[in-house]
Amino acid sequence: MPFNYKRIIKGTYLPPGDKSISHRILILTGQIVGKSKIKNLLQSEDVINTLKAMRLLGVKIIKKTNSFEVFGIPPGGLIQPRKMIDFGNSGTGIRLISGLISTNNIEVKLIGDSSLSKRPMKRVTEHLSKIGANIELRKKIFPPIKIKGTGNAVPLTFEIIIPSAQIKSAIMLSALNTNGIVKIKEFKTTRDHTENMLKSMGYNIKVKENSIHRFIEMKNDKDLKTINYKVPGDPSSAAFLISAACLKPGSKLIVKNMLFNKTRVGYIKTLKSMGGNIKVVRRRKIHGELIADLVVEQKINLKSITLEPNDIPLQIDEIPILSIVASFADGLTIFRGLKELTVKESNRLLLIHENLKKIGVKSIIKNYDLYIYGNHDLKKGAGIIKHNDDHRILMSFFIANMICKKNNIIKDKTCVKTSYPSFFKHISQFSN
Ligand code: S3P
Repeated sequence: MPFNYKRIIKGTYLPPGDKSISHRILILTGQIVGKSKIKNLLQSEDVINTLKAMRLLGVKIIKKTNSFEVFGIPPGGLIQPRKMIDFGNSGTGIRLISGLISTNNIEVKLIGDSSLSKRPMKRVTEHLSKIGANIELRKKIFPPIKIKGTGNAVPLTFEIIIPSAQIKSAIMLSALNTNGIVKIKEFKTTRDHTENMLKSMGYNIKVKENSIHRFIEMKNDKDLKTINYKVPGDPSSAAFLISAACLKPGSKLIVKNMLFNKTRVGYIKTLKSMGGNIKVVRRRKIHGELIADLVVEQKINLKSITLEPNDIPLQIDEIPILSIVASFADGLTIFRGLKELTVKESNRLLLIHENLKKIGVKSIIKNYDLYIYGNHDLKKGAGIIKHNDDHRILMSFFIANMICKKNNIIKDKTCVKTSYPSFFKHISQFSN
């Protein structure tokens, strides 16, 4: 039976390993002398590109049956790679590793696919230049990034204006080989996995926050300790099945071992406010990260919501799937302040708007605010979805088949491998 409006979602689901954590654990264990072990690493294309990059920079990584073993090198000890490093589609990979390289005495060219080659890098490299790295960008903004790191980085105080965990983490990785105290002020709404991981590796890091900002102080006076790390389930990937379950009364989905870090689960709060029946059970903390199981048992149709700009960083990657949810929720939904969505793997704001129109849903964009006119009538569907190989756009509009009279036409579905290679397998496993 095709995946269509007749389907509900049922079963017990283990989401794939978290992408943000998978990148970071590979990079950070790569800076620890000795053997670290990683379980449940997300083996998606983005993460594998980071793994390959770390190997090219001198780190030994061995794939075992159920884990990866990483034998790291000390901060400052990266070796000169023999060729340029290709990050494919991954903004996280290229930005974080630029930070790492910036304080090593090596010279590297970092490249990516056609989507990554159009994404802004200056937001990261302008900080790295200040500490002494020599960096060239295409048109002063885009990849390739040619970077010559410095072995003698200046410890600085950074203020990050764009709420971006990638900018922050790049600076934090540069600090691993900077003598003195590095201070960072950023928005407390961005994901804090780099901070949490460094703490569990015994690094000297202090983190404070007030209602708006987070203040980080790093001092590299302690060696990082080896770690055995099990990557928790990715809330951004689980968002597709959880949202699908909320869309269809009668669904019952149990989600196990999902990362429940507050910077990542804004969409759960959003779904609940819209009428999603989601219970969070068995909360526990492992290596500084909150992990939980969830029970989604949907009984009613959803209603609309308004999200303010401050809410957006907490659910930036889930706006595409929340747009589908909003289309089937009764009333006008407004997502305010979506500027960052225009510089993701695609211009997601525009693609959401164009594709909603194709499936028969009215939406308007006004000054980076998105208005979606929802109701729980079935949409016409049969739209030819334009995804520009953006994995989250594709997966969101595939889930839209659940609210359309006719199935949508999606050509070339291979880009799900970027973040969620088992997406279609999970859809057929948990839809009834
Ligand atoms: C990520 C941070 C976010 C997010 C991306 C992953 C990370 O990007 O959209 O998918 O792992 O640090 P920004 O930091 O650019 O907001």
